[in-house]
Amino acid sequence: MARSSIHGQWSSRWVFILAATGSAVGLGNIWRFPYLTGENGGAAFVLLYLGCIAAVGVPLLMAEIMLGRRGRQSPIHSFESLAQDESLSRNWRWLGAMGVVAGFMILSFYSVVAGWSLAYVFYTGSGMFADITVEGAGERFNAMIGSAETLLAWHTVFMVMTAIIVGRGVQSGLEQAVKYLMPALFILLIAMVGYAMGTGDFGAAISYLFHPDFSKLTNKTVLEALGQAFFSLSLGMGAILTYGSYLSDNTSIPHTSVIIALADTAVALLAGLAVFPIVFAYGLEPSSGPGLVFVSLTLAFAHMPFGQVFGCLFFILLTVAAWTSAISLLEPATAWLVERLKWRRRHAVIWTGTIAWVMGIGSLLSFNHWDSVKFFGKNFFDSMEFISTSVMLPVGGLLIAVFAGWRMSRASSSDELRMQSTLGYSVWRVLTRYVAPAGVVLVFLNALGIL
Ligand code: TRP
Repeated sequence: MARSSIHGQWSSRWVFILAATGSAVGLGNIWRFPYLTGENGGAAFVLLYLGCIAAVGVPLLMAEIMLGRRGRQSPIHSFESLAQDESLSRNWRWLGAMGVVAGFMILSFYSVVAGWSLAYVFYTGSGMFADITVEGAGERFNAMIGSAETLLAWHTVFMVMTAIIVGRGVQSGLEQAVKYLMPALFILLIAMVGYAMGTGDFGAAISYLFHPDFSKLTNKTVLEALGQAFFSLSLGMGAILTYGSYLSDNTSIPHTSVIIALADTAVALLAGLAVFPIVFAYGLEPSSGPGLVFVSLTLAFAHMPFGQVFGCLFFILLTVAAWTSAISLLEPATAWLVERLKWRRRHAVIWTGTIAWVMGIGSLLSFNHWDSVKFFGKNFFDSMEFISTSVMLPVGGLLIAVFAGWRMSRASSSDELRMQSTLGYSVWRVLTRYVAPAGVVLVFLNALGIL
């Protein structure tokens, strides 16, 4: 019954934790979390997000790893085999297929934003931001996104970087990147919080982030908090499931899941604490959208000692964090092609990378040539982000919870999770069967205005 993966295995439990944390920690924490928090009015959003991580995120993280390790293949084939084991419909493979589509959609806009980070490595490093004003920082950002050629160039560089690692096989390329660079990012982020504490308006930031004003809650806030929890933990599309398929049999799934969730949440909160003191000190608008982190941190680097060096280093590390996440977005589709068509990885990744690259062009044009093209009031970039993150990931997560909690037998899930305490297993099962699905359904009903 026990399967093995044709793609190889992580060399140790730590490597898996690093790889999964590398997938989780990325632009979602440092770019998306602060700007969504700002658009949704602060602490109430943060609180909902934390609630979603604990009640829905952690059990689903365990479920995805468990399904991956038992299926030992890409999401599409894992769901197919696992459904067969339990004598269920083969149609469960479509859940894997939906994840592959969501992965392409996310990667397409993700790569564009990672391209901004790459551009900022050179902007900050060149010293062009020295003593820049608030207006100047905003203008610089707008000038960058206004130039389709600039965005296309960096998007292309980033997509090639991602495809190269996926083509080499996840283990060899990824291990080194995550082992040293992720801790370095963490340390630099703490230093940034220290700087923001000393020079920014730290009090205002704390109260903005942690004193909830529930009158600011809207239906959209609740939906976006749930989507962000999925996005940040890389859940709902099979990325973590795929990483789980390379996990050795004797690793504890609950322990590793908790470590990954804690690290991911810590980075998001640190990013908020680094960004908002600067936002308030300079009178920036918290709700100014996707440019928030780039503009606010540029101002911090412009005025801090050795800001040129720190700024350059920070954007290098942010790019690496985005890189280790993007790899996990491209891996499921690539692994599927390798399994299905027996292609070599390098061959498969040319196709998957190209598809995501072409889709990304739509996103980068929506900041310039296509900025007036709107679907239901959203441009192409916003539509991609919304449909994939706020709709497809929660729906995927809901179905994964149904599969793991209801359709898979108790014997199979407890055998694969191998939890030491029966209480722990029961808690997981209740969260997966009832709390996670109900949470997603309630949030959707709320978003549709029914609740
Ligand atoms: N979690 C990553 C971030 O926060 C992005 C990411 C990687 C992702 N893989 C994913 C999001 C899979 C959703 C699904 O930046």
